[in-house]
Amino acid sequence: MTKCYPTVSEEYQKAVEKAKRKLRGLIAEKNCAPLMLRLAWHSAGTFDVKTKTGGPFGTMKQLAELAHGANNGLDIAVRLLEPIKEQFPILSYADFYQLAGVVAVEITGGPEIPFHPGREDKPHPPPEGRLPDATKGADHLRQVWCSMGLSDQDIVALSGGHTLGRCHKERSGFEGPWTTNPLIFDNSYFKELLSGEKEGLLQLPNDKVLLSDPSFRPLVDKYAAVCYTSLHINGSMDEDAFFTEYAEAHLKLSELGFADA
Ligand code: HEM
Repeated sequence: MTKCYPTVSEEYQKAVEKAKRKLRGLIAEKNCAPLMLRLAWHSAGTFDVKTKTGGPFGTMKQLAELAHGANNGLDIAVRLLEPIKEQFPILSYADFYQLAGVVAVEITGGPEIPFHPGREDKPHPPPEGRLPDATKGADHLRQVWCSMGLSDQDIVALSGGHTLGRCHKERSGFEGPWTTNPLIFDNSYFKELLSGEKEGLLQLPNDKVLLSDPSFRPLVDKYAAVCYTSLHINGSMDEDAFFTEYAEAHLKLSELGFADA
């Protein structure tokens, strides 16, 4: 879909840049990149392409949306962000939460994701039940992601977001990280997925679906494959493929329902 971004004022653009710097500081200080990425994703992932409702439009700050079961724990993210948001009243919550997601990926060593400002805050939160359920299989996953308007490639690349963070028993009922370095954004989620279950690391049903589904699996292999050559001693080609496609998918996710021509 072609995008037609709104023009924002110079003052707004400056506030975005300043807020970005403040977010880098906060996220580094609190080690809260995973939670911020989850906030941005849960804000955007409620978009429904048919009705054009939900999506990254700042409604997550409302108690009604924070109370959705899938959002357990995101009140902490909203609370952590509030002191910075207060310094930039000109910014919409919609832009601010998506900016936090972009900074979270960048500051943990992930790809740079382009950021276009201009999202407006919407008054009403989406209904509960639009985010994927970790206990369900491929059909459910595809259905949920398709209703957002995202492709198989987007699904697999974005699932690599679980390179960051962990599950908390009191929030989701699950416990533990997906990787051994949950504050580093790299392709280790896919490497761990392929190397099988290990003590202390998590693989949820929605992760395992990426291995068993014939159209998801080649993408997992592509993002995980190590391809050392004499020219690429430390860097591997795999991370490049993952980083490029992750950045594209994250950009799409962060702009669902925004600036559609
Ligand atoms: C199939 C879709 C997905 C399912 C079923 C799912 C499920 C979950 C669950 C159950 C948790 C644990 C929450 C907790 O207990 O704190 C979690 C955490 C997380 N998810 Fe996902 N997720 C999905 C997709 C994504 C995507 C697309 C991203 C980002 C691009 C993402 C980023 C994260 C992050 C960063 C955390 C860690 C949060 C923290 O450490 O506090 N997830 N996810």
